[in-house]
Amino acid sequence: MKKLKVFTVLGTRPEVIKLAPVINELEKHKEKINSKVILTGQHRSMVDQFLKLFNIKPDYDLDIMLKNQTLFDVSSRCLLRLAKILEKERPDLILVEGDTTTAFMAALAGFYLKIPTGHVEAGLRTFDKYRPFPEEINRQLLTVVADLHFAPTKKAVGNLRREGIDPKRIYMTGNTVVDALYSISSRKYILKNELLNNIDFKNKKVILVTAHRRESFGGPMLSICKAIRQIADDPDVELIYPVHLNPNVQKPVNKILSGKKNIHLLDPLDYQTFVYLLRKCYLVLTDSGGVQEEAPAFGKPLIVMREVTERQEGVEAGVAKLVGMDSKRIVQEVEKLLKSPDSYKKMSRAGNPYGDGKASKRIVRAILGSMG
Ligand code: UD1
Ligand code: UDP
Repeated sequence: MKKLKVFTVLGTRPEVIKLAPVINELEKHKEKINSKVILTGQHRSMVDQFLKLFNIKPDYDLDIMLKNQTLFDVSSRCLLRLAKILEKERPDLILVEGDTTTAFMAALAGFYLKIPTGHVEAGLRTFDKYRPFPEEINRQLLTVVADLHFAPTKKAVGNLRREGIDPKRIYMTGNTVVDALYSISSRKYILKNELLNNIDFKNKKVILVTAHRRESFGGPMLSICKAIRQIADDPDVELIYPVHLNPNVQKPVNKILSGKKNIHLLDPLDYQTFVYLLRKCYLVLTDSGGVQEEAPAFGKPLIVMREVTERQEGVEAGVAKLVGMDSKRIVQEVEKLLKSPDSYKKMSRAGNPYGDGKASKRIVRAILGSMG
């Protein structure tokens, strides 16, 4: 019997984390599936550790990353380099994840070659063209191009249905980030980072921070930094901030936040260390998509520094609060959680509205069921 040739295309940190469990699952079906991995290299240093952790060895590496790359750089380099491989290999299915430019370009390349695409994490929407930018349009266009839609939640399924997607092509699977999180949390881990080992998690309120969205560059990023600096005036607080390598993040963060004793600016952390911090911290301050899906698993209150979110499930469950990027408001909301045990308790219920850890199994089952 002819094996199904499935090519997974990934490029950035969150794609590796969220597709790793799917790739591992595809590998378990060797008798039916010939699984290959194309790394676009949209991110370079920020993905290597994650590939190793999940034991993924890309079959192709397109090595597209440029320093301070524009959306034109990423799009054109992805498309041209993917074309060559896909034309030669002609897989039966291309698998992509989320809303990055790597994901959209891979689906578009597939469409030009009439190769079907499966979209993991389909149906997330803010319905705001420029927020997040360019992700909202990337994922809307991905929905138009894709053939199989793996929606993480009921809300995502609803969005796809309202856009006229054939219900037979929509599969509600849960989010694969929960699969990754569970598989990593179950492994033994000893923190080896000296700086982090010296942080007093017992007596201090530790805030874990991440921020990287393109629509925040400039003024909003400065406002976020101003808020963080002000929060650090409280001597009972320690802020841990692994800084994204994008120069538009690095510059303002280093300029405004360096030199304060209780603000710890770090290089991007490996996944196990980051998950360890999610588990140990007091609250999370973020604009990240993936982090919004992970923190609830550990009952950590989330302050989301964005105007809109496609992850409303956490907000509705009361474990996340959307506060925007105004520094005053960010400080106010964080202070509420630092000072009011009631407010903290209300937001720190463990449970995850995004998945149950079995999404990858459902995705591979759906692929085999519909194409195998
Ligand atoms: C990308 C995705 C975004 C996702 C984010 C996850 C797009 C358009 N954006 O945004 O959806 O949320 O990844 O982190 O697809 N850099 C390095 N080394 C790395 C990675 C990045 O130096 O390993 C620097 C480079 O200067 C690079 C810049 O960061 O040019 C921007 O990378 P890019 O992938 O274009 O944008 P992100 O902001 O990372
Ligand atoms: N993450 C990590 N180390 C870090 C920061 C984030 O391992 O220093 C992980 C985090 O657990 C989450 C993912 O990276 O799974 C989120 O990636 P990012 O915020 O870059 O992208 P987004 O999810 O916003 O697209």
